[in-house]
Amino acid sequence: MSFTSQRYDFKDKAGDYTRLVQELTGLLAGETDLVANAANTAALLFEVLPAVNWAGFYFLKDGALVVGPFQGKPACVRIALGRGVCGTAAAERRTLVVADVHAFPGHIACDAASRSEVVVPLLRGATLVGVLDIDSPQPARFDADDARGLEAIAAAFLAGTAA
Ligand code: SME
Repeated sequence: MSFTSQRYDFKDKAGDYTRLVQELTGLLAGETDLVANAANTAALLFEVLPAVNWAGFYFLKDGALVVGPFQGKPACVRIALGRGVCGTAAAERRTLVVADVHAFPGHIACDAASRSEVVVPLLRGATLVGVLDIDSPQPARFDADDARGLEAIAAAFLAGTAA
């Protein structure tokens, strides 16, 4: 398998996320294993997204979020639904963009460098599978375009991956 990441500057955010979704779809093609595809998705996002210090997955297991494949510093392993940014996004089943994690009640600090965060719930129909979590050391790093773009990334990951 050969793999060459395209370069993105995100000046045209919507366009670059569209191209990134295409690149991810190509990267995952021919493989549906959950761990394999989550690992390569996290690696691609960590490589191409500017100003990111953690990118990865938590999966829902026995009613709690358990850390999955990621890039970045070691992370807290289990997060209860409703706790922190990840647990809140999962419980409310909606994407959360947090401009200042220190101002988010119950934020769980895994890497002290993290200042802002975006969490996208992974939904197969009505079933919550987990979340995609991206952290940045830069305050207010993520906006609504990132939220929509990462929702498209999450959808491409789910489409290419077996339950
Ligand atoms: N900050 C997250 C915890 C996960 S780490 O950022 C990887 C939260 O509050 O849910």
